Amino acid sequence: MTTAKTPPMGWNSWNKFGCNVSETLIKATADAMVSSGMRAAGYQYVNIDDCWMSHDRNAAGQLVPDPVKFPDGMKALADYVHGKKLKLGIYSSAGTQTCAGYPASLDHETTDAQSFADWGIDYLKYDNCNNENRPAIERYTAMANALKATGRPIVLSICEWGQNKPWEWGASVGGQLWRTTGDITDSFSSVLGILDQQVGLEKFSGPGAWNDPDMLEVGNGGMTDAEYRAHFSLWALLNAPLLSGNDLRTMSDATKKILMNKDVVAVDQDWGGQQGALVSGNGTTQVWAKPMSDGSVTVALLNRGPVSAMAATTTAAIGLPDTDSYRVKDLWTGKESQTDAMIRAELGVHGVSLLRIWPKSGRTLAPLTTLSVGVDEVVEKDQPFTTLGTVYNDGSTPLIRPSLTLVAPAGWKVQGSATVRTDVVQPHRGWTATWKLVPDGTGGASLDVRVDSRYFTIGGGQQSSEHVTALVAVPPPAGSVQASSLPFISTGNGWGPVERNTSNGENQPGDGLPMSIAGVKYATGIGAHAPSTVRIYLGGKCTSFSAMVGVDDETHGNGSVAFTVVGDNKSLAQSPVQRGNQAAVSLTANVTGVHIIDLQVSDGGDGNTWDHADWAVATLTCS
Ligand code: GLA
Repeated sequence: MTTAKTPPMGWNSWNKFGCNVSETLIKATADAMVSSGMRAAGYQYVNIDDCWMSHDRNAAGQLVPDPVKFPDGMKALADYVHGKKLKLGIYSSAGTQTCAGYPASLDHETTDAQSFADWGIDYLKYDNCNNENRPAIERYTAMANALKATGRPIVLSICEWGQNKPWEWGASVGGQLWRTTGDITDSFSSVLGILDQQVGLEKFSGPGAWNDPDMLEVGNGGMTDAEYRAHFSLWALLNAPLLSGNDLRTMSDATKKILMNKDVVAVDQDWGGQQGALVSGNGTTQVWAKPMSDGSVTVALLNRGPVSAMAATTTAAIGLPDTDSYRVKDLWTGKESQTDAMIRAELGVHGVSLLRIWPKSGRTLAPLTTLSVGVDEVVEKDQPFTTLGTVYNDGSTPLIRPSLTLVAPAGWKVQGSATVRTDVVQPHRGWTATWKLVPDGTGGASLDVRVDSRYFTIGGGQQSSEHVTALVAVPPPAGSVQASSLPFISTGNGWGPVERNTSNGENQPGDGLPMSIAGVKYATGIGAHAPSTVRIYLGGKCTSFSAMVGVDDETHGNGSVAFTVVGDNKSLAQSPVQRGNQAAVSLTANVTGVHIIDLQVSDGGDGNTWDHADWAVATLTCS
């Protein structure tokens, strides 16, 4: 039997194509998997998701491929895919119908498994829709047994959304992988939400039995390349199945570089005794690490926050043995260096640094250095501000004659010298330069501060460059101001974008419905969906905040959320949990002296489905 010794790699139609599957698409995808280099990089399964079947079984009770979408049938398609030295996957549900309403395999396990085997299918994704509340273990066992009885090795992917802890029984019923969560979407908040649900599951995976945090969204357009790198790095660290979900026929170079990074794929495919696990985190930055079978450790330093941040850990904390030097390879840049113990990285917004670290080597390499740039997240328009640049030396050899140069953004100039020098930065030390920038003409709505570092070390001269962006803001005008009329520094939202003066949306985000809580309509406010944060600059100019908060009527009584007002990272006021149909409550906060306010909505404790949250008449009083 197939054991899926390493996490399965391939492609699945759902994330990009939904129900638009066809023989043409599958063949072209198989072709592209070969021509793009994906097959050579290890991807082998071409998986058809929902919507491939006809609405009716045939007279013999068998599933029939849709004759328009798959005119040549599945056997011919499997032959085609196999001819490319690839494997074909298919989909059904452990229910009466699939999620999209096609016939599914509950109580038809033997017939359907036999069809799959007869067609030459290599992989079955087995979903959980329309399951009639019958016990999951029984439903998945029945299909596993039916597949086994065919004699054809077919990987069984249990898609049970983590509802009945499939990590505890998925392997024993005969599955090779099991979804641990609901569906991924093409957004970084979805990636983080899924990531958080993987904590503690590391002990349940191993060769032939993998936790599945859902398929990849890399290349689908909803995230930045930095976010896709973070998504891919973390999935690799978790030994997740790597099922790309993008259009392989039209991949950008950036997408190819992510999906086909050999060093990162190798992390995913390596079983060092445990899937990667969370080591430490402070809310904004996190450290995840995974032991590798050659004694090295791969570590991911992750910035979950909306501004640049530095993250650090040590070789001991990530489980490396004690030795006096370690070799470090940055798996995204390829750069190698040497550290004595500290591991550090400056991370852009939603950035990751993925490092593989080997004990007892690397003394001849340049030291691991980190250049960090410190600028406030918001700079006030036409006001001077201060920038810090720090270079850390975590290796065994000094940095000689270092210099730090600040490149001023448009609209500001450096007071004094832009380049600052010193003689040496010793091992295990940092050196900081400070610059004052003063207004000089007009700049834009955001600014980009760049610091360049230069020094000599083993192997010659080294240079690096880091930049951070800050928003240029003006405090709110004096008087009573609607928060929905102010610029947002940043927003995060559970479903679609945060909306100004309309609710989150009933049928789709952005459908422009007025806010309404327990029958009362509101003309102004902020329409959100948990988990959500709206960041607004007050510049110390306001004294009070007030809003009527509650769940929007568009949820038809569903949903539960809590509202929190945070000022300069301190909680100022919190609502009780608000449920659907419940009258709005008034939430007020004293914001005297606060520079940045965060309006946060969290799930009320029952998952974030239907968590449409209104900050109605959100009002600031400013002077
Ligand atoms: C469920 C699954 C998804 C996808 C769809 C298809 O939502 O979790 O991965 O297969 O069904 O309808």
